[in-house]
Amino acid sequence: MISIKHFIGIDLGTSAVKLLLVDELGQIVGEVTKEYPLFFPQPGWSEQNPEDWWKAVQNGVLELTEHIDRSGVCGIGVGGQMHGLVALDAQDRVIRPAILWNDGRTGEEVEYLNSVVGKEKLSAMTANIAFAGFTAPKLLWMRKNEPGNFARIAKIMLPKDYINYRLTGVHSCDYSDASGMLLLDVEHKRWSKEMMDICGLKDEQMPTLFESYEVIGPIRGSVSDALGLPRECAVVAGAGDNAAAAVGTGVVGEGGCNLSLGTSGTLFISSKKFGVDPHNALHAFAHADGGWHLMACMLSAASCNKWLCEDILGTSDYAAEQADITDEKLGNNHVFFLPYLMGERSPINDVNARGTFVGMTMDSTRSDLVQAVLEGVAFAIRDSFEIAKSLGIAIPRSRICGGGAKSPLWRKIFANVLGIPLDMVKTEQGPGYGGAMLAMVGCGVFDSVQAAADALVELSSSTEPDPALTARYEQRYQQFRKIYPALKELFPEIQ
Ligand code: XUL
Repeated sequence: MISIKHFIGIDLGTSAVKLLLVDELGQIVGEVTKEYPLFFPQPGWSEQNPEDWWKAVQNGVLELTEHIDRSGVCGIGVGGQMHGLVALDAQDRVIRPAILWNDGRTGEEVEYLNSVVGKEKLSAMTANIAFAGFTAPKLLWMRKNEPGNFARIAKIMLPKDYINYRLTGVHSCDYSDASGMLLLDVEHKRWSKEMMDICGLKDEQMPTLFESYEVIGPIRGSVSDALGLPRECAVVAGAGDNAAAAVGTGVVGEGGCNLSLGTSGTLFISSKKFGVDPHNALHAFAHADGGWHLMACMLSAASCNKWLCEDILGTSDYAAEQADITDEKLGNNHVFFLPYLMGERSPINDVNARGTFVGMTMDSTRSDLVQAVLEGVAFAIRDSFEIAKSLGIAIPRSRICGGGAKSPLWRKIFANVLGIPLDMVKTEQGPGYGGAMLAMVGCGVFDSVQAAADALVELSSSTEPDPALTARYEQRYQQFRKIYPALKELFPEIQ
């Protein structure tokens, strides 16, 4: 019997890991989600236990492959939450919980990097400036606040690289994810020695760099035994979740755009050429297809809606909460929401910014607040969209993916706030599908990421903007833009 070839794509997210089983024709034949806890040990801090990720991945793989011939699983590709610091000691044991991408403890270190080292120098070395979530400021924080832990570091890596390490025993990192560490010379795709010096790192503490679609090794014998996968099952380097999502939605090569509405919200613009935003408001990172991209990241996107519905209103029926938001209410909401529940990265780079409702009256309703949250997230993405436009980047339309994109109402709000059509793809599981595609490239099913995207990614639906509604939202957006500057000075005072 010839067994069918399968590939596993893994999206190592912030609330859960999502695993996809994809056959050699690119069809999704299985899907499993496993949740794990997220810890906020202090306001603005955000941590996870790498062992929890690994347990969830192992259980997920076992469940995902329960009903297939496991000997046909040829490759695994992981897309993961970016920037998180995983530090291992000389015995490859995790030294402390991972400090995540949305952790805001590094205000002082960011200030030091951007003001003392200087933004110009940082940008020349790494193509980026410091943001609180990036990995380098976390290392400086650890050196100052946990010197004992810092001294024990034998290897640093990012969250998905820890999974790749557990799978293969190889300490690796791909260029897309490494870009978000502020330790990579992004243009030349090599570690920046100067940045390593600034952070007190030595060569042997750095993982080996790969392109996302390159095979880092086969799985370890012990993993093969435990998960029932064949010894030759190959693991590719994988990618940061946004680059993996862009691959999964076919945003590769020149000039594509992907909007991802997950826990974070990102605007991702792919390019064949290296380029830097002169003001560094947009991140300049390597892409998983071998090229580059510019990206804006807001820290709380779909998580704002989750917070309001689940934590405040006590419901997980998001659709019911949105049912009263009829067409005539769109663009006419007098309530505004600033979505800065974890501080904010792009474009304001302010760890002190906070979530805020403005404009409520006695007749404001529950659904006005829900609508304000959906709109506030779209307005905040529009801030970054404007920056991209100001650099002369044309974004005539965009793909959209992530949990938030499942809401037709939210897609409509986004299409009209941005004034462009938004396309969904059939396989809308962005990073997981991108991870599987990278594994297919690594295993030789396709010659390149572009070829995989051309063959596998198909559109399913488009949401067109409506001129009258776009005009109403333009007015609202101009009002929204004034709220943060009016409150900016207050936020640090009220912490
Ligand atoms: C990107 C970023 C987030 C995380 C979320 O810069 O910080 O999108 O990757 O998983």
